Amino acid sequence: MNIQVRYYSRGGNTKKVAEAIAEELGVEALNITNPVEGADLLFLGNSMYAFTIDKNVKKFVGELKVENTKEIVNFSTSASDSSTHKKVNKCIKDKNIKLNEKHLSIPGEFLKMNKGRPNEEDLKAAKKFAREIVDSLAKE
Ligand SMILES: Cc1cc2nc3c(=O)[nH]c(=O)nc-3n(C[C@H](O)[C@H](O)[C@H](O)COP(=O)(O)O)c2cc1C
Repeated sequence: MNIQVRYYSRGGNTKKVAEAIAEELGVEALNITNPVEGADLLFLGNSMYAFTIDKNVKKFVGELKVENTKEIVNFSTSASDSSTHKKVNKCIKDKNIKLNEKHLSIPGEFLKMNKGRPNEEDLKAAKKFAREIVDSLAKE
């Protein structure tokens, strides 16, 4: 199974999670300026800014093609620990790309909130999440 990791991260919180997931899966975490080719599974990291996802993430997801990305697993960081899964889903709704119903949301430091997050425990949880998804798909 070809697995790839892409992220969009303004402040580095989501990048940390992306790198943990990539390390667990033995691949590289790249930002979304790197196109996706030949992915069976794309772990996509992004964040909540002013109640939505960045326009670059919307564009990136909007331009994905099922020929190059069969399935997406979304993960996100945010101050309120609110997932971006639904926002990403809106961007792919007219495509044949599958968005895995499982998604990961991790608190991210913002101003005085969530100091030090994502922390080591969060990164461990992210690795476990990614491993479980990949193992479950490998069994299908
Ligand atoms: C300009 C800005 C707006 C934000 N708006 C929200 C928001 O609406 N809801 C929320 O939960 N977090 C919000 N946050 C917090 C970020 O989602 C959080 O810090 C996240 O971990 C940032 O990820 P990054 O470091 O990968 O960019 C905002 C952060 C910034 C910088």
